[in-house]
Amino acid sequence: MSSNILEKLNMEKVKLVENPVVLQNLSVMRDKNTDSQGVRMAIRNITRILMYEVSKMLPLVEKEVETPITKFNAKIIDPSKKIIISPILRAGLIFTDSAIDILPQACIRHIGMYRDEKTLKPVWYYNKIPMVAENPENTYVIITDPMLATGNSMKETIKLYSQKNIPMNNIKAVCILSAPEGLYHIQKDFPDIEIFTTAIDKGLNEHGYIIPGMGDAGDRIFNT
Ligand code: URA
Repeated sequence: MSSNILEKLNMEKVKLVENPVVLQNLSVMRDKNTDSQGVRMAIRNITRILMYEVSKMLPLVEKEVETPITKFNAKIIDPSKKIIISPILRAGLIFTDSAIDILPQACIRHIGMYRDEKTLKPVWYYNKIPMVAENPENTYVIITDPMLATGNSMKETIKLYSQKNIPMNNIKAVCILSAPEGLYHIQKDFPDIEIFTTAIDKGLNEHGYIIPGMGDAGDRIFNT
């Protein structure tokens, strides 16, 4: 089933971020013998690389800088743009520290959703996102969740931001492991969204877990 789904994906919108450092950390993160501290460190290492990739969407402006030698026009991320990092609780929290280190000007807007174990549908329990985005054209949103399984929580979060008139080009989904099913579900409703991921796994098992995946990301990260 997943191989059929793979054929339907628009891979131009799926940014597969792969390099030896990512692959090494993925193997540590996936290994059932890695303890929570090891899982957290591996995820933070991968997060940094994903954040550098996704930061390519941010507009630049020139700023005059004086080096010890001379003045010149350097480039900086446009300070007039609003950057929102939106971790989907609870596993998405692991992105926050590395993400805010890299983009210290960003604000963090948490998304509280859990997965109903029977229906696998997301259930909201925390949403303090302002009703209206003040300047939607100048707002950039990075939604983080290590696991893109069914894609339901990610889809709900994309919907939330797109309803605030933030352009689809300014919204990015960032995940570590993705199932083809999740990618497909998102692309069906939001064909223009770019999804950054470090692996596309085989598929989902009957409980909605990614195969081979890493098990329950929240449990592995938070030692529960
Ligand atoms: N959430 C997880 O934590 N793991 C999966 O494999 C799928 C969803």
